[in-house]
Amino acid sequence: MSVTVRSTPNIALIKYWGNKNNELRLCAAGSTSMTLNTPSVDVTIDHAETLAVTSRNKEMKERDIARFEKTLQLTKNYLSSLGYDDALPASLNISIESGIPPSIGLASSSAVFSALAKAISELIDADLTDEQISVMARLGSGSAARSIFGGFGAIRTADGEGIDSSVGWQIADEHHWPLHDIIIVPSTDEKKIGSTEGHAKAQSSPHFADRIKAIEKYRLQDCIDAILQKDFEKLQAVAEEDCMDMHECMQTQNPALHYLSEETFRIIGEVKELRESEHLPVLYTMDAGPTVHLFCTNEARERVAAFAHAQASCTIFEATVGPGSHIV
Ligand code: DP6
Repeated sequence: MSVTVRSTPNIALIKYWGNKNNELRLCAAGSTSMTLNTPSVDVTIDHAETLAVTSRNKEMKERDIARFEKTLQLTKNYLSSLGYDDALPASLNISIESGIPPSIGLASSSAVFSALAKAISELIDADLTDEQISVMARLGSGSAARSIFGGFGAIRTADGEGIDSSVGWQIADEHHWPLHDIIIVPSTDEKKIGSTEGHAKAQSSPHFADRIKAIEKYRLQDCIDAILQKDFEKLQAVAEEDCMDMHECMQTQNPALHYLSEETFRIIGEVKELRESEHLPVLYTMDAGPTVHLFCTNEARERVAAFAHAQASCTIFEATVGPGSHIV
């Protein structure tokens, strides 16, 4: 019997950058995000004697398969620790159908690995909590721990290096606050250094320790409060501060990672002018690429979308809050 799960990317408001343990993807600090409603990925799995991973839209390279192999091994170890020793006896047939264009700054790995984790929990018929499923998702991609949840997700960290010391949780569901993400993609070039490699070098930035302290001391809580109180001004201040802080860390690590382009800075500049002159509730945030995410409220959506569509030679996507990983 096969199982199919649909998932979507989430976009971080407090960014996850750097691990305490790279192998287990134990995050160095907590993070928060909004789960999008689109574009989505469908992952179908079935028991198999040996691992097979196929994707309709992407050629699976050896290192992609190796990442799934590793994730499954870690997942088996985690399931054993929960008392599900032989739940995944052999391996899996994994088939991926993605509606997410690759390398445009929408984390397809967060959608794929959250869908895989949720599908495994269904296939083995284990009585796992969403938080436990989020740990399995994190073993494949750190940010995937947040896409298990609809609405606004987060990762909290605990002391030590236990496999469940970074756990996803839900701040509020998708009906709480109907924010939009208007996505401006200035370039569709494949990025040279991906997040996994970047996380592993984050500690080499002299700014890293201060960044973690600021998140722990106030940023994470301010962001959670802003979401719960639907306080857009507060969300804007903390999300933009944290985004630029992560990029400072990236740019000062060794080797330096410059993900933002001239186009990114031009767009940010224009967004600041626009919101000042028209008093629009809109904020910008960027992940590991030049793509600009413009989060806004219902009242600002039309104006922000018009601004985005007026950008020459950029691809535009529009999304809103989504329901998280679910069976289809
Ligand atoms: C900048 O979850 O993509 O988007 O665990 O190696 O897959 P891996 O990393 P990933 O890192 C996300 C980095 C980020 C910020 C964020 O989403 O929090």
